[in-house]
Amino acid sequence: MSHDKGILISFEGSEGCGKSTQIRRIADRLEDIDHREVVVTREPGGTLIGEDIRHLLMHKEEGEAMFPETELLLFAASRAQLVREVIFPAVEEGKIVLCDRFLDSTTVYQGVARQIAEDPVTQINNFAVGEIIPDLTVILDIPPELGMERVRHRVSDMPDRMEQENIEFYGKVREGYLHLARSLPERFFVIDGEREPDDIELDIWNEMHARFFAED
Ligand code: TMP
Repeated sequence: MSHDKGILISFEGSEGCGKSTQIRRIADRLEDIDHREVVVTREPGGTLIGEDIRHLLMHKEEGEAMFPETELLLFAASRAQLVREVIFPAVEEGKIVLCDRFLDSTTVYQGVARQIAEDPVTQINNFAVGEIIPDLTVILDIPPELGMERVRHRVSDMPDRMEQENIEFYGKVREGYLHLARSLPERFFVIDGEREPDDIELDIWNEMHARFFAED
């Protein structure tokens, strides 16, 4: 593989879209064929500080509602830490970073679904990420009904604070992602997340190959 510069690939989509599964599969493939290191990380989280912020964001304290503005700033704070502590150094060292959610989650969840004005969302996103923008963003697109169904059947625990939203919220999330992908087609790759995981994996792999490793 002769692409020496580091690469940042983010994975996006609404709850239950299957991005964590695909990240694992793509990381395995990369590790099989590449001598370069692969870094898998997530948002919110990915650092000690970020994981503490994640806990604040995902778990509802009894009787305490979080305001959309607070939520926006906490997601941004987690991202600011992750970029400087993990992503930027890894990309500088030529590593391939696979990130489970990145700045587009904020644009869509806080900007579109929570309806915070576009200006502060964009400015806060830019402040948090600095110079770092993904080289590729994969969106796993699924209907909100299916996402909610998948979340309900997770063997893990109770739905977290963000997973307790209604179908209308996830409908807005889906539309928000598709709108972003239409406005920045060169950065985004949208995949039908209802297909078989093997087929989705192959499509992502082929897209990555064409974009970054085609000369091999
Ligand atoms: P996940 O890690 O299971 O995908 O859950 C993260 C949740 O946080 C999900 O509901 C999306 C939400 N989120 C935002 O609302 N804004 C953000 O900027 C990020 C990174 C996540």
